Amino acid sequence: MDKFVIDGPTRLQGDVATSGAKNAALPCLAAALLTEEPVAFSNLPDVRDVRTLQKLLRHIGASVEASKTTATVETRTIGSADAPYDLVKTMRASVLVLGPLLARAGSVRVSLPGGCAIGVRPINLHLAAFRKMGAEVELEHGYVEARASRLSGAEIAFDTVTVTGTENAMLAATLARGTTRILNAAREPEVVDLAVLLRAMGAWISGEGTETILIEGVERLHAATHAIVPDRIEAGTYAIAAALTRGDVAVTGCRPEHLKALTARLSAVGASVESSQDALRVRASGPLAAHDVETAPYPGFPTDLQAQWMALATSLEGISTITETVFENRFQHVAELVRMGARIRLEGRWAVAEGPAPLTGAAVMASDLRASAALVLAGLAARGETVVDRVYHLDRGYAQMEQKLNGLGARIRRASAPTGIHSIPGYVRETP
Ligand code: EPZ
Repeated sequence: MDKFVIDGPTRLQGDVATSGAKNAALPCLAAALLTEEPVAFSNLPDVRDVRTLQKLLRHIGASVEASKTTATVETRTIGSADAPYDLVKTMRASVLVLGPLLARAGSVRVSLPGGCAIGVRPINLHLAAFRKMGAEVELEHGYVEARASRLSGAEIAFDTVTVTGTENAMLAATLARGTTRILNAAREPEVVDLAVLLRAMGAWISGEGTETILIEGVERLHAATHAIVPDRIEAGTYAIAAALTRGDVAVTGCRPEHLKALTARLSAVGASVESSQDALRVRASGPLAAHDVETAPYPGFPTDLQAQWMALATSLEGISTITETVFENRFQHVAELVRMGARIRLEGRWAVAEGPAPLTGAAVMASDLRASAALVLAGLAARGETVVDRVYHLDRGYAQMEQKLNGLGARIRRASAPTGIHSIPGYVRETP
């Protein structure tokens, strides 16, 4: 089990490049199952979740020629239209093969993803959408079994905005007979990126990025090439790291227009934020003001940046209230930040952070992908050595995080067994 050994405090400086978005790559790779022709991807993030989905595609019968950031997926025939528990338990997003397999193969068997660290996360809305499109859906022995000779277009009104639910319904509707209208659809840039790919494959889609998406089903889809959209959550993580460490960082190759909810708040706390078409420069020095955030579906403040914002809030002057409205159990990083000296109290869906609270290095435990990113950021700002355990969570969704941060002046080392900072070859601690 790898750990990160971080020596702080650090003031981050320089340029960091953004990788492709994990949460766009997963539905886009699943979309390749909709055609027997090859779909070629570029700008894929080099992260474990992408490799897990590629493994699932191979299990289903696709040929996948992949490098770190590119892949060509060709599914001439569907060998086994199923996603076994062993794969799904490592990555909930495996449920994204449900829609394409149901639409193309007419039957599918997918393990139900259990709960995860951040919440129960049921998929009832996905299944309700497939039922609306005429599929028979049963749950048995921990698996979803769904059948339909051919899906029919339908009106699908989601009670709650669901990102992968919207994507699964879009994927299924592309080959359905007739028109599907998705109401209260997710508007995330990753949903838009999927629509761009599906249109390149010959699908009839409109309205992506709005609350209403319209899909006119077609008989078949064809080959396409697609570059994955940059990862706004990765870019946001580094932007917050710049503010927290009072640094000066340019996040390149990103889409600032996808990060407005964040950049507005970074400016509000007093950081300097400059955006260009594909880069974001964040600079900060001295005291920054406290600021409340409330998570919400896009274009609201992303829940996937909530933990990182909380790490920043420990350094802000005054009281910041952080309200988590999307997931019911997404505060597991709080206890670990408190171990580092943060002053945060929890009241149900609210976390109240009082700052500035100077952090000190400690041994902490990662519980999920974004919580682990928050602990790494806290380690960069903390005085002394922080050891973040279970960084396998990070590897699921951040490509080369320690290399990227070390490129900005951080001192992070990946260790598979506990070792002291002094074991780093050539490292000399400055004596005060
Ligand atoms: C996607 O998860 C992302 N994952 C998550 O990112 C992200 O946190 C989330 O959207 C919200 O932005 C991927 O895209 C692979 P939801 P998803 O369905 O689609 C409830 C990360 O860190 N709900 O939008 O699973 C659900 O419980 C990950 O990269 C139902 O009740 O999230 C939640 O409270 C973590 N029934 C809310 O809706 C359903 O059938 C929103 O969940 C579906 C969802």
